[in-house]
Amino acid sequence: MDLSGRRALVSGGAGGVGYAAAQALTELGATVALLDVNEAACTARCEALERARAGSAIPVVCDLSDEAATREACRTAIETLGGLDILVHSAAFVGTTNLPGWSAPFEQQTVAAWDAGMRVNLTCAFVLAQACRAALAASGRGSIILVSSIYGLVGSDPSIYDDTGMNRDRVIAYSASKGGLAQMMRHLATLFAPQVRVNTISPGGIERAQPALFRERYAARTPLKRMATEEDFKGAFAFLASDLSAYVTGHDLVVDGGWTAW
Ligand SMILES: NC(=O)c1ccc[n+]([C@@H]2O[C@H](COP(=O)([O-])OP(=O)(O)OC[C@H]3O[C@@H](n4cnc5c(N)ncnc54)[C@H](O)[C@@H]3O)[C@@H](O)[C@H]2O)c1
Repeated sequence: MDLSGRRALVSGGAGGVGYAAAQALTELGATVALLDVNEAACTARCEALERARAGSAIPVVCDLSDEAATREACRTAIETLGGLDILVHSAAFVGTTNLPGWSAPFEQQTVAAWDAGMRVNLTCAFVLAQACRAALAASGRGSIILVSSIYGLVGSDPSIYDDTGMNRDRVIAYSASKGGLAQMMRHLATLFAPQVRVNTISPGGIERAQPALFRERYAARTPLKRMATEEDFKGAFAFLASDLSAYVTGHDLVVDGGWTAW
């Protein structure tokens, strides 16, 4: 598997999963534009990638809530990279996003928070796809990877959150946005074919300092008996970005240790 000469734009590249995607792609030879609203983290992540291989990463700081800024960031990335072969959309409002009315008991979740989360998680995937389509088509091997979630596929199990201090109601807008991404992927896959392939990755829960009781319950309910690590997703990104998946489009690659298998 070789991605030498390929150019990628990774949204949410300063975050855990986005950075894992960037690592997977750059380790295989690609050059990556890391797009994130968090300037300090974005710069630090790029510096780390640059230390591993000089010339492998550039930061693109952008708030994806802003449509004009998003289109401008895509133009900048495509111009700087000299084209585009791979687009990864990993940026998202997640369960731990600190926004009033977001991760709250169901009755306290607000339309304002719903709109803000939908904007970054779902609407902006549409904007990114629009802004990058021509460059990806010109590449001759364009690949779009949207990061969904098991909660875009199945309902959450509230009981595993009981007595952990975590929000057992989870975030309805998050699940709806991830289900929406999966369907956007199918629509784009048929629309952008044959020039550009479009797929999703649906990760399972990543272990990140959650309360021990939650981690134990999650692991017990997972056939592979553990939560995910960021490392677990690198193979899926590499596969969907590369020619190994040249005949794969419209597919949701679930990487969840078997969570959704029963
Ligand atoms: N962590 C998990 O357990 C898990 C499970 C399933 C799916 N996922 C998905 O993986 C993806 C990444 O999640 P993560 O856990 O790495 O989260 P994370 O919070 O580490 O990363 C998300 C990144 O998105 C960026 N971002 C947020 N709003 C933005 C905006 N307006 N403009 C630009 N960038 C913005 C953040 O700054 C952050 O760097 C998400 O799509 C998430 O839904 C995560």
